[in-house]
Amino acid sequence: MNQDELKTLVGQAALQYVEPGTIVGVGTGSTVNKFIDALAGIRSTIAGAVSSSVASTERLKALGIPVFEANEVGELAVYIDGADEIDHAGHMIKGGGAALTREKIVAAQSRKFICIADESKLVQVLGRFPVPVEVIPMAAQRIIREFAALGGSAAIRLKEGRPLVTDNGQHILDVTGLQISDPVAFESRINQWPGVVTVGVFALNKATVCLLGTASGVKTLTF
Ligand code: 5RP
Repeated sequence: MNQDELKTLVGQAALQYVEPGTIVGVGTGSTVNKFIDALAGIRSTIAGAVSSSVASTERLKALGIPVFEANEVGELAVYIDGADEIDHAGHMIKGGGAALTREKIVAAQSRKFICIADESKLVQVLGRFPVPVEVIPMAAQRIIREFAALGGSAAIRLKEGRPLVTDNGQHILDVTGLQISDPVAFESRINQWPGVVTVGVFALNKATVCLLGTASGVKTLTF
């Protein structure tokens, strides 16, 4: 199976965590797009979704799934999202699709975080994938220097030659050269830096379950 087929497999497998009659938390990315497509097949059994990005909202609505604002609803039973990396304890790097802030918000509103990923995303130590950090633009250069002091190299993410602007009107730094051996401490530390909106390490609120797409089928990792 190729990577796209593995994404389809885990997107479909995630349906088992969707509770009838509830509102589902929905992440962002190519793997989640497979989940959204699968969710459309059972849309009459759910109340709707809370979405983590403009892109996912558009896809959900186009498939006839009602989308609610996070503030309109209470706690969600499950949040289903992909990851750029996940370790063996359920800590993740996320934000490759620039949606990390809303992803963290919807995940925090949910009882369970179901991560869907193909096996290329499973790592021993987080940090091979550049860590996305959403920042207030006026703080970007100072935060780049702070990461350099930690041994990392941060660069402003560009789109068509200009800084990418997130759904929240902010910028993204991508940080390479870090080995994140203590993800909880790392997330807690970077969260304190003025101008950081969200760091793309999801450790304080990590995955509950990971559905990992492998050549021999879907493996369920429980944390
Ligand atoms: C978006 C994310 C995605 O979940 C992450 O980038 C994985 O994406 P994909 O499923 O396309 O590999 O965090 O901000």
